[in-house]
Amino acid sequence: MTEVKKKKQIHLAAHFPGVNNTTVWTDPRSGSQIDFASFEHLARTAERGRFDFFFLAEGLRLREYQGRIHELDVVGRPESITLLNALAGVTDWLGLAATVNATFNEPYELARRLATLDHLSDGRAAWNVVTSSDAFTGENFRRGGYLDRAERYTRAAEFVATARELWDSWSPDGSPRPFARSGRHFDIRGEFTVPRSPQGHPVIIQAGDSEEGREFAASSADVIFTRHGTLEAGREFYADAKGRLAKYGREPSELKIMPGVTYVLGDTAAEADERASEIREQQISPQNAILALEQVWGRDLSSYDPDGPMPDIDPDPGSDFVQGRVRVGDPLAVASKWRALSEQKGLSIRQTVIETTRRQSFIGTPGSVAAALEEFVVTDAADGFILVPHLTPGGLDDFVDRVVPLLQERGVFRTEYTGCTLRSHLGLAEPVGKG
Ligand SMILES: Cc1cc2nc3c(=O)[nH]c(=O)nc-3n(C[C@H](O)[C@H](O)[C@H](O)COP(=O)(O)O)c2cc1C
Repeated sequence: MTEVKKKKQIHLAAHFPGVNNTTVWTDPRSGSQIDFASFEHLARTAERGRFDFFFLAEGLRLREYQGRIHELDVVGRPESITLLNALAGVTDWLGLAATVNATFNEPYELARRLATLDHLSDGRAAWNVVTSSDAFTGENFRRGGYLDRAERYTRAAEFVATARELWDSWSPDGSPRPFARSGRHFDIRGEFTVPRSPQGHPVIIQAGDSEEGREFAASSADVIFTRHGTLEAGREFYADAKGRLAKYGREPSELKIMPGVTYVLGDTAAEADERASEIREQQISPQNAILALEQVWGRDLSSYDPDGPMPDIDPDPGSDFVQGRVRVGDPLAVASKWRALSEQKGLSIRQTVIETTRRQSFIGTPGSVAAALEEFVVTDAADGFILVPHLTPGGLDDFVDRVVPLLQERGVFRTEYTGCTLRSHLGLAEPVGKG
């Protein structure tokens, strides 16, 4: 009998949008970014769609603009693990992923909170390990902005290794064993307070793109959350990330690559295109266009007309005019690229920002979007996607109602959950405990 080979399966996660200009707050369907009902709505929708996990990003300081709280982002968000514990009570299957910084926390405390989430959810916890150490964020913490860039991943790797030791420290018969860890960043000993959790180790996600970030992911992560969302960039990143695994004794299937992407649906391709343009116009309001420019230029550009030409002054590369948002790598290079594009195509400031800050979006009919998602996955540009809807909290409803059934018909997405833990949804083995 010939065996029918099962198609490569797509993994899907739901990103709860709230800050940044992804969410179109001017849309009457937009709700609260802080009410529990919002989080519950998106989580229940994702679970109805048989998604792998629900994802929360993290920002540890309110962004500032010219020394004042930045009013263009809707700011303020609750603490992720607390929130996910509450969501564990209103969902049964969905993975629950929290972004938590490895620079401003301590392994014992964070390992305890994540193991607790894994227990309370029966094995659905994940930790997205981020590393930002900028002084602006660090001022909120006891030690201030104390780690420079080169040290961030050293600490993150030691942090994860220490957390793993803590998670492994209970014996299979259910008694705690002493642990001791002495390293560059941590010198701790004692007994861990939480028995081994259902997944052994909560799923580890990594988001960061530098050489150090990629090595850290190859050595320690189960999933990478990436921005490489086009077919070409996706394939390159995918090959690079998976190619790094062998030296850590790992198989390509042990690390899942999931870019963050948006989508827009229409009954026809033309309708979807039109909607996508409208959404981009709403996301890049006149003030947001000037803000995007100010992030590159590091200067006050409020006197410029968003519908007029680009500024002819140069950026101030060392400025911290907008604080708490990632600044672009080389402001002078970015500014000259944006100016050249604007001149070449005759674009205003706002049109240029719309053009240059476009994220990978799947735009089309439910059928064409399903086909495009499948193409990305079967041709190894990704293992799945973290979907970032533009409406909070109902932005995933139409995807689950209209695209998921087509992915299921194509045989590339589950129709029912087949396991109980997030590791089983992702096809990842449970780490072996130290028996
Ligand atoms: C897709 C993606 C999502 C990220 N999400 C967050 C986040 O929610 N919170 C945060 O503090 N940092 C976040 N980061 C920042 C990274 O953790 C890291 O600090 C940053 O990318 C710089 O590291 P790198 O030089 O390795 O890219 C994100 C990075 C990427 C690429």
